[in-house]
Amino acid sequence: MKHLLKLEDWTSEEIIEALNLADQLKYEQKHGIEHKILAGKTLGMIFEKASTRTRVSFEVGMTQLGGYPLFLSSNDLQIGRGEPVQDTARVLSRFIDGIMIRTFEQSEVEALAEYGSIPIINGLTDYCHPCQVLADLMTIRERKGKLEGLKMCFIGDGNNMMNSLIVGALRTGMSISVACPEGYEPPKNIIEFAEGFGDKFEMVKSPLEAAKNADVVLTDVWASMGQEEEKKIREAAFVGYQVNDELMAVTNDGCMVLHCLPAHRGEEITAEVFEAHADEIFEEAENRLHAQKAVLVKCMGE
Ligand code: CP
Ligand code: NVA
Repeated sequence: MKHLLKLEDWTSEEIIEALNLADQLKYEQKHGIEHKILAGKTLGMIFEKASTRTRVSFEVGMTQLGGYPLFLSSNDLQIGRGEPVQDTARVLSRFIDGIMIRTFEQSEVEALAEYGSIPIINGLTDYCHPCQVLADLMTIRERKGKLEGLKMCFIGDGNNMMNSLIVGALRTGMSISVACPEGYEPPKNIIEFAEGFGDKFEMVKSPLEAAKNADVVLTDVWASMGQEEEKKIREAAFVGYQVNDELMAVTNDGCMVLHCLPAHRGEEITAEVFEAHADEIFEEAENRLHAQKAVLVKCMGE
């Protein structure tokens, strides 16, 4: 049985295998070739935070694979009234075949895996967003034909997206430069992980320095879900940490721009840059479906 709790848990080979399978499933879906690999299986989808892409892509993906997606809002589950996650894991393991969870604490996802006996897939925590990053890598590889040797740049918060992008980029042979304001760097364990890759990782204060000769630039909101009260403080701290024309001017020719969405135009990205790269960004959103179908097959189909 396989989980996707965080990207660090998957080797380079496992990540590449998932990307290959995602490409194949995308091709087959577009050509009307159906796979009912998960027929008879149910995926419980627990959401403790809002979602458009993750919810719809998992629900559609599970249906396309012949399985059944069961949406479970924490507002309606006993978990929302304090039932321990350890008990929820043991109960759900007796009814369903896998769980996708979007929540706050990474420890909650880890506890589901420890106490349950079914595959657990992380649909975003405060710590990481592995499904999104698999879709991002898939999109880069589709457009650039490779990952190895390319330079990724991330501008902004040392949040769930930055954490998973650092792991995903380095595990697939890319280099990554990140620029974040003081006090908003990624956690120590991620920096230690990245430092293991030598000069393939760089963390700087200057967005222009990070973006120099980049092949793909990514950013994310300044205030993530759960940080609404910090919005004003963050708006002040992140001034200048924006993907705009000035920043794009120092990147390589044909540099891509990706954004996990939702995007806040005028904050982390200008409307001009967003619209100039809308085709890539919405392909990235579509690839959530294909990448997650690959994750579902890897975790629940074997
Ligand atoms: N990118 C992403 O995870 O989008 P949702 O919050 O809409 O699921
Ligand atoms: N960092 C953002 C990502 C949303 C997909 C958040 O956690 O809200």
